[in-house]
Amino acid sequence: MTYLVVENCIKCKLMDCVEVCPVDCFYEGENMLVINPDECIDCGVCEPECPVEAILPDTEDGLDEWLEINTKYAAEWPNITVKGESPEDSDEWKDKPGKKEMLSPNPGAGS
Ligand code: SF4
Ligand code: F3S
Repeated sequence: MTYLVVENCIKCKLMDCVEVCPVDCFYEGENMLVINPDECIDCGVCEPECPVEAILPDTEDGLDEWLEINTKYAAEWPNITVKGESPEDSDEWKDKPGKKEMLSPNPGAGS
């Protein structure tokens, strides 16, 4: 199994998750992070760090699409290990539905 970053992260991108990962397997897009499922060791440390509950274990139902998204973008985006600056309007996007369409395929800056 692996943990996955899901829709709630989009446009929130709080990045509290990245520094706790013992294997540095977060990757940064323009408006979301993903986890590399091949590198994640399922420790679960990151899950409670996310203030908007955007990190879930893949044992939860209905996450096939997010497994694909995390796998795809972990191969394309730069690694991130240090918390960067979140978008100024992060709070406004917390728990908003329909954010999936807003997922940017562009890479972030990484660290
Ligand atoms: Fe990293 Fe552990 Fe989270 Fe996997 S579950 S992404 S290894 S902190
Ligand atoms: Fe996203 Fe939560 Fe991390 S909003 S960047 S998964 S702390």
